Amino acid sequence: MNDNLHTLRCFGCGARIAGSEAQPDFRCSQCGDLFEVEYAGWGQREGHDRPNPGALKWLWRERRCSSEFLDQSGVWRFRELLPILDNFGNAVSLREGNSPLYKLKRTSKALGIDQLFAKHQGMNPTGSFKDTGMTAALSVARERGFKWVACASTGNTSAAMAAYAARAGMRSLVLIPEGKIAWGKLSQAMDYGAVTCQLKSDFDGCVRVLTQIVKEAPIYLLNSVNPYRLEGQKTPVFEIAEAFDWTVPDHLIVPGGNLANSSALGKGFRELRELGLVARTPRISVIQAEGANPLARSFAQNNGESMEPVEAHTRATAIRIGNPASWRKAARVVRDTGGWCLDVTEAEIAIAKAELGSEGLGCEPASAVTLAGLKKLCCQGKIASNESVVLVLTGHTLKDPDYTINFHRGTLLTDVESAGREPELKALERNAEVVDATPAAVLATLKGIAG
Ligand code: F0G
Repeated sequence: MNDNLHTLRCFGCGARIAGSEAQPDFRCSQCGDLFEVEYAGWGQREGHDRPNPGALKWLWRERRCSSEFLDQSGVWRFRELLPILDNFGNAVSLREGNSPLYKLKRTSKALGIDQLFAKHQGMNPTGSFKDTGMTAALSVARERGFKWVACASTGNTSAAMAAYAARAGMRSLVLIPEGKIAWGKLSQAMDYGAVTCQLKSDFDGCVRVLTQIVKEAPIYLLNSVNPYRLEGQKTPVFEIAEAFDWTVPDHLIVPGGNLANSSALGKGFRELRELGLVARTPRISVIQAEGANPLARSFAQNNGESMEPVEAHTRATAIRIGNPASWRKAARVVRDTGGWCLDVTEAEIAIAKAELGSEGLGCEPASAVTLAGLKKLCCQGKIASNESVVLVLTGHTLKDPDYTINFHRGTLLTDVESAGREPELKALERNAEVVDATPAAVLATLKGIAG
């Protein structure tokens, strides 16, 4: 069976190459830009060649009840829209995807929005959205005969890569910035058997080192410059469209780090529309942390036409990235869909994370930028009360428990960072009390809280 139908198209100069012709660093040999996977003919197909939207919707729904290995993956359930393997039998899956879409009742009431949802990508096998991309790109690596895979990471990519590599019986190399990733993520890479190197550098420095390594050794690069990652990462869009009965929400809000995920979600909606599966695309907005905001700055200065790297600082370590590789792709998604790119402060991130927690939906700090950004968009009058909004929560709360504990102890933020927000912060803090081991002492504590 040959299921493979794709070519790679350079985002910069438009050059087309076969998938097997890509350079080890996935940069175009003519202009240095990144590639996108393209399926020849999807735009032009007519008559019997074009996938039938009604038949696809029926098939994908049927697969939700199937016990077949591939059908149980929320990524490969939609395999007709990611024909990147010669043989789907080569797919490496941990039953990723099929993540829940939760209604945020209290937050929507507080913001005056009728329909607010969270697509919780932290409910994936390794606790982040990276699993959806990893199943796709690592399967390509296995099919092409690689024994080693590698990534530079702020933590989640490395956790996902290590797990999928272990499932496939492959070896993995992880480069992470020393001291700047959450312990949960580091422990995962170790648990799944990756060779883990903590470099005395930041994420951008790790990328530079790895780019050199893959040119010198037969190691397959699994950073998000690898266009196959984005094919898996576009599939949550199919789940969202399916959950909305093939209408779409008005607005999707995504965190921005290396800026591949926003690009992937935009590509997913674009393809659904091209194929006639949905009639329109939501606005897609990207939110960055104020200390790691090169795209937000670029939008403020020149509508995302050019970008200056920054030195990145934020406690939302997943998105502590100053020179995002996929910024051009993400800028196009924001512009084409009529979305916005904003940044939010450390206090805004911490408050939004605690608010999501108090709805029973913990997430990691990088994911909470979406709610912080939504609040800003509401204040700016950019979202109407009758619009539907989906926040993409990218990682699980247990990835970074230190952040959460420090928040509730009141030790997370500096005085400067929390200035003016103290009452809001205090109202959300839930420190663990030390109490005498008697019923009376515990009841007295409850009384204190109820009062
Ligand atoms: N949220 C989380 C939890 C992440 O781990 C990341 C990126 C992002 C958002 C941003 O996504 O980079 O596609 O814009 N984490 C990467 C990593 C960089 O190495 O785990 P992006």
